[in-house]
Amino acid sequence: MRAETRERIEKLFDRYPEKRGALLPALYLAQAERGFVDREAAREVAELFDLAPVEVMEVLTFYNMFHTEPQGRHHVYVCTSLPCSLRGSRTLLRELGEHLGVGPGETTADGRISLDREECLGSCGTAPVLRVDGRYCENLDLDSARRIVDELE
Ligand code: FES
Repeated sequence: MRAETRERIEKLFDRYPEKRGALLPALYLAQAERGFVDREAAREVAELFDLAPVEVMEVLTFYNMFHTEPQGRHHVYVCTSLPCSLRGSRTLLRELGEHLGVGPGETTADGRISLDREECLGSCGTAPVLRVDGRYCENLDLDSARRIVDELE
């Protein structure tokens, strides 16, 4: 981690009654450097927080907004909770994966797209839903989903 990032993390500590309360914003800062937080960066964060590295890894792997490996330039998440599943999202995820040549949790060889599944996005009435770089794409079928991912550069 860069010294500047370490300093920014240390400045967070005063904002919380307990140092540990700053862990999520600290991980956002650590991730901003390269788009992911690898084991070495997690170890450095753990050191700043007086935590065991495994405690930081537990947080990193619990939340899907954090990544422990290099990511694609775009993130495509397919909601696979029940309402979206009933409207075909699991099939959509599989077919999008076949179209892109990756499975859930993987990144295309050209580094363009990381594909994954996600829990309910709170837009069940417009299922099935994708979240593409934070933008909701709703009422999809395979053709419209393919068009969306094909337009990503
Ligand atoms: Fe997909 Fe709620 S189940 S948005």
